[in-house]
Amino acid sequence: MSDSAAKASTAQAAIAALLREHRTFPPPDSFRAQANVNDPQVYERAAKDPEAFWAGFASELEWFEPWQKVLEWNPPYAKWFIGGKLNASVNCIDRHLRTARRNKAAIIWEGEPGDERVLTYWDLYREVTKFANVLKQIGVQRGDRVVIYMPLVPEAAIAMLACARIGAAHSVVFGGFSAEALRERVNDCGAKVVVTADGGYRRGNIVQLKRATDEALEHCPTVQQVIVLNRAMDASQVPMVEGRDHWWHTLMEKAPMHCEPEVMDSEDLLFILYTSGSTGKPKGIAHTTGGYLTGVYATTKWIFDLKEEDVYWCTADVGWITGHSYAVYGPLANGATVLMYEGAPDYPDRDRFWALVEKYRVTVFYTAPTAIRAFMKWGTQYPQMHDLSSLRLLGSVGEPINPEAWMWYHVYIGGERCPIVDTWWQTETGHILITPLPGITTTKPGSATFPFPGIEAEVVNEQGEPVPLGGGGYLVIKKPWPGMLRTIWGDPERFVQQYWSRFPGVYFTGDGCKRDEDGYYWLLGRVDDVLNVSGHRISTMEVESALVDHPAVAEAAVIGKTHDIKGQAIAAFVILKEGYHPNKQMEDELKQHVAQKIGPIARPDDILFTAELPKTRSGKIMRRLLRDIAEGRALGDTTTLADPSVVAALRQQYEDSEG
Ligand code: WTA
Repeated sequence: MSDSAAKASTAQAAIAALLREHRTFPPPDSFRAQANVNDPQVYERAAKDPEAFWAGFASELEWFEPWQKVLEWNPPYAKWFIGGKLNASVNCIDRHLRTARRNKAAIIWEGEPGDERVLTYWDLYREVTKFANVLKQIGVQRGDRVVIYMPLVPEAAIAMLACARIGAAHSVVFGGFSAEALRERVNDCGAKVVVTADGGYRRGNIVQLKRATDEALEHCPTVQQVIVLNRAMDASQVPMVEGRDHWWHTLMEKAPMHCEPEVMDSEDLLFILYTSGSTGKPKGIAHTTGGYLTGVYATTKWIFDLKEEDVYWCTADVGWITGHSYAVYGPLANGATVLMYEGAPDYPDRDRFWALVEKYRVTVFYTAPTAIRAFMKWGTQYPQMHDLSSLRLLGSVGEPINPEAWMWYHVYIGGERCPIVDTWWQTETGHILITPLPGITTTKPGSATFPFPGIEAEVVNEQGEPVPLGGGGYLVIKKPWPGMLRTIWGDPERFVQQYWSRFPGVYFTGDGCKRDEDGYYWLLGRVDDVLNVSGHRISTMEVESALVDHPAVAEAAVIGKTHDIKGQAIAAFVILKEGYHPNKQMEDELKQHVAQKIGPIARPDDILFTAELPKTRSGKIMRRLLRDIAEGRALGDTTTLADPSVVAALRQQYEDSEG
């Protein structure tokens, strides 16, 4: 055994021993003493009067006009802070300028190639107000939609805040999505303007964002103007469409500073963010201003325990809800210093994240279990190359964190001194709903512990009845919360049907959950056809539609297969049309086709060609059996199958192909 393999196996044995003890982790006394919230009474107080609880946080924000009523709840429609007027950009920027935060770093950014930038709150004000004026000049008005398709650069946050300033809703599309995915989102929200970049860096390559934008916009009739940030290429080599495309820097040169913020109603739209559901069509999740901002402000302050001196790093891209709520709005509303890093964790080497923690003395670090599992696999030598002693609090989000990964994070990143907050939430919920409070909660590795104060959750059975402690079922949320989605853009019926019809009057999360005897919540993953691949939501239907879009494919069934790093990997069972032949080349072509249709995150790991799919007598594909086959498990109940021999043949074939 090599030295590092021996070390790794010792580490694993140590972690396994700790897990066997069923250890719990109370907040260290020193952490508890300094925490923003350390009085367990907060749960009771919030439960007694949730409206007063949330209003307390709202009143820490700046409003042009106060609200008249905290909540109006006509299930499933909630309005928060009714009549209140505010602007999100003022709350994230202007109000800090009147304090000592004026020259504090708001965003510390590092590009993948190593370029650096620091923007103070005053710098951010200047950039945001100038860009707000740019947007106005090119015709963006209050109520319009602007799509942002950018790498993780400060300008992405600047564009978001500039939209907020002038009352236009932004819809950020993750830069890893394909031209076609971009087109679908642009058309669904009817964007007037797209803000993009020539390219962004990823593992030393340039992601061709402008090229994808051009391709997408061939069929986007609502888009009138495009703004292009010169990030990664020689500007003279980037084709620009006359009258439509403008360079960011040219427009900014002439733009005046200062821009009066629009006075927005608390319930005015702040943004739309697309996410995958159980059908092929992504859903435009609509978030409004007052409630969302209150929710992200409150949860960031309490869960990440932000202090004036913190250097806070949420590794999510702004293309996801985590980037919206916890890399932009939440921390900036708190006046925090945010670290932003453009690139991959293993570029140029596998210690890049830890090098950044050391270099910027990061104190609060928030990432995803899939990243932690990759770090585990790479080995402890990478974090051990760096001084991580600045860290004081760690967070996890995106999928259930397995206890082994939790322990590894605790020991090798947190130095056994940092509380870990495993935070459960969704694009739809806007902010974290289930989480430890780091100065109060005794954690258990793998459990997101308890609902945030003021949140009423429950685990119910098929009939919607509460399941007693110790049992599992569906996670629902029973009372409205400030950051909840207000609707699905352009599809109000789907909003009602998707979230509020399974169990009338309560919010259906789509997640399975178990509570232990102590009342701790243990999230079990999705109960619908949504996959969670490296913390990204992908619908099986979306991938299936992409596959059958290929001329060779007659039928496809897609499932998530357990994967030790990604959580789930995509496996596709494909029936080819007459005249096409199953071979390696076809397999690669189909994988590439899906990557091109949706984005590289949706590329299937496995494709298995088959002549038939296991179906029930009513014609439904039995995905459960496909999962059993893909994971090499004993087959579950096959009695409802129309033709049981299909499964046996498929299994044999799968085993041969894994060979
Ligand atoms: C999953 C990401 C277990 C869950 C913020 C949810 C989690 C979906 C956790 C939402 C967690 C997120 N533990 N599962 N801590 N956090 N999930 O919309 O299945 O991209 O429904 O939002 O991720 O994914 P989304």
